[in-house]
Amino acid sequence: MNCLLVFYSRTGNTKKIAELLSTEMNCEYEEILDTKKRKGFIIGFIKSGFAATREKLTIIKEIQKDPKLYDLVILGTPIWNKRMTPAIRTYITENKNRFKSVAFYCTMGGKGGPQTFESMTKLCEKTPVSTLEITKKEIKNELHLDKIKNFSQQFKS
Ligand SMILES: Cc1cc2nc3c(=O)[nH]c(=O)nc-3n(C[C@H](O)[C@H](O)[C@H](O)COP(=O)(O)O)c2cc1C
Repeated sequence: MNCLLVFYSRTGNTKKIAELLSTEMNCEYEEILDTKKRKGFIIGFIKSGFAATREKLTIIKEIQKDPKLYDLVILGTPIWNKRMTPAIRTYITENKNRFKSVAFYCTMGGKGGPQTFESMTKLCEKTPVSTLEITKKEIKNELHLDKIKNFSQQFKS
């Protein structure tokens, strides 16, 4: 399957999963870069969390790959305040008319997966063919590897 994995990552967890997933699924990937500073506790945590809660958009760097050229777009986001990040919200808003089908994954402390996927579904105006939640604890204990294998398996014919 011709697939594109698109993700945003502030501290590396979602990126780590993107790298593993794209290798496992043999698909291309695109990292979304937020032009807003997201480092540190005040800006990175408090303000960013608030922006996610208020469903704010941001300005992302120009994308390199056209999602219209792919059968499936996998969208990956960290969960912030039980929501998708502003960078992924912006990417979806700007590109949803170019998605043929979608799947979602998220990394998180442990809360907000279903709520986040529901709002991504609404925003994309498409039901995801599959979803995947991975916690920081699972990454630490290397439990993410099996989850990635299982997720990828369903796309292999
Ligand atoms: C502002 C902010 C809000 C967060 N809110 C949640 C949350 O509601 N639920 C949760 O399980 N994890 C929450 N987290 C934890 C992140 O989702 C988790 O650390 C994620 O793996 C980070 O991904 P990244 O390393 O790709 O940036 C939050 C983190 C930040 C920075």
